[in-house]
Amino acid sequence: MPADPFVAKLNEQIGHEFAAHQQYVAIAVYYDAETLPQLARFFYRQALEERDHAMMMVQYLIDADADVVIPGVAAPQPVFGDIVSPVALALDQEKRVTAQINALAAAAREAGDYTSEQFMQWFIKEQVEEVATMSDLLRVVERSKDDPMDIENFMAREFAEDGGEDATAPHPAGAE
Ligand SMILES: [Fe+2]
Ligand SMILES: [Fe+2]
Repeated sequence: MPADPFVAKLNEQIGHEFAAHQQYVAIAVYYDAETLPQLARFFYRQALEERDHAMMMVQYLIDADADVVIPGVAAPQPVFGDIVSPVALALDQEKRVTAQINALAAAAREAGDYTSEQFMQWFIKEQVEEVATMSDLLRVVERSKDDPMDIENFMAREFAEDGGEDATAPHPAGAE
């Protein structure tokens, strides 16, 4: 059984991941309504990744025979003043999640729960990538905010397809 303090924190994190999912859907819908389909597509895809993160954590707790309590989430920010602010919000969110993930690994280690600590390693690596991607994207949207078609062309070029399968990723509950 994973350590109790870790289980409590991981259940909280499931809520944070679902909240991130909702926020990215809200951002995707905003860009879709602004007729910026490449930005929309990127955030729809990010949203699905956040859902997967939540479901990977669910699967871990089920496998470990620990309690899973699917939490409610606070409403996402739905309205944005300009096309830069959603990406700035996304970067803040990824930085916050990075701190949460590191705290989860620390809680596992503190409890001597090395299995759970190891489970968190994939998420630590994933957060490095997500913060780097959002930082890059923020630079691009800031530079080209007066010419959104430049941003759309960049997105079409750089994010044409999703990253493909990551064989090292934990299994999301309910996935084929
Ligand atoms: Fe995530
Ligand atoms: Fe993320």
